[in-house]
Amino acid sequence: EIDEVTLRRVLDSRGNATVEADVRTTEGFGRASAPSGASTGEYEAVEISAKRAVERGEEAGEALVGTDAANQRAVDETLRDEDGTDDFSRIGANAAVAISMATADSAADALGVRLHRHLGGAFASSTPTPLGNVVGGGEHADDATDIQEFLVAPTGAETFEEAVFTNAAVHAGVKDVLDDRGVTAGKGDEGAWAPSIDDPEALEVVAEAVDRAADVETRIGLDVAASELWDDDAGAYVYGDTTRDTEEQVDYVESLVREGDLIYVEDPLREDDFEAFARLTERLADTDTLVCGDDLFVTNVERIEHGVAQGAANSVLIKPNQVGTVTGAYEAVKTARDAGYETVMSHRSGETEDATIASLSVGFGTGLIKTGTVGGERTAKLNEVIRIQRDMER
Ligand code: PGA
Ligand code: ZN
Repeated sequence: EIDEVTLRRVLDSRGNATVEADVRTTEGFGRASAPSGASTGEYEAVEISAKRAVERGEEAGEALVGTDAANQRAVDETLRDEDGTDDFSRIGANAAVAISMATADSAADALGVRLHRHLGGAFASSTPTPLGNVVGGGEHADDATDIQEFLVAPTGAETFEEAVFTNAAVHAGVKDVLDDRGVTAGKGDEGAWAPSIDDPEALEVVAEAVDRAADVETRIGLDVAASELWDDDAGAYVYGDTTRDTEEQVDYVESLVREGDLIYVEDPLREDDFEAFARLTERLADTDTLVCGDDLFVTNVERIEHGVAQGAANSVLIKPNQVGTVTGAYEAVKTARDAGYETVMSHRSGETEDATIASLSVGFGTGLIKTGTVGGERTAKLNEVIRIQRDMER
């Protein structure tokens, strides 16, 4: 039974304020904090100022006193009722997701089981493949690539541990390749290298780093974050001096996938263009490439159902703060899976040391987890999956 919900402002990885929630129950304690996006989707649940989210979240938390923390659906329904909007714009999706995840954490504590076990039950038994961001630009770094993220996935790794060390080796390998080319690079918001090179060269660099540094089969992926490239006035995607209309964008992405044998391409088209998403997905039907919707679906069941009906994409990015509750994230995973779509649990560019998505990934059984490669707020999640994997082996 929930006794008390407390919220506070804490720092995120960009130095911005975010919300942390503590949930105290008769027999347990839970804590979680909210992440924050930079290239946010237009249809996401709404983040409000951390200060206001703390105030309104604590008010909403009073309505939870007396609720069974293990009854996640009831908790999340109360949060929705207390908010009263359909996008959490009153109490803030940041307050909601922190409280929702902290409640799950407190229930696991009271039950004496790990969080992934509480959420996934006895049959939660597999670990995801980590998608690691190794080169990036877009909204995450100035004067770097147009495509937001160049990712790697060690598809040949036998364990999660082997996979994350492979990603880390490729991340270091990228730096070596850049050094050899005389290219300097700082890091973007997610810890990926942010060199001032064009997208084709970035793909070359990552492929070379994989050849040099990966001991197991490792394939490349992209998060195009195409809504950020789209210019309404031009009616086209803008890459520096080059523009591509929708048809050209579909052709371009198809050629990138085929030439690079890509395993993954996220948001290759803008967030409203279900139709072009469907066309690209159809064009790639003979490949094993995951065409993933992030801003397209925003972890929203209705948008996923709409996409499924049209054949748009074949996988769904799951970001709990896009929907505001653990239940919402679960429903999104279930809707995707029932339709035969793969699921990818994901961090945001603004993160904290909170590792809840590691447990959500294993608990819900998502095939992949996208949570960076290096940097404390990224390794917090990766290291937690390593711990979970070791636990499951015992
Ligand atoms: P964001 O970016 O967290 O800044 O929205 C991550 C992504 O687009 O996947
Ligand atoms: Zn994305």
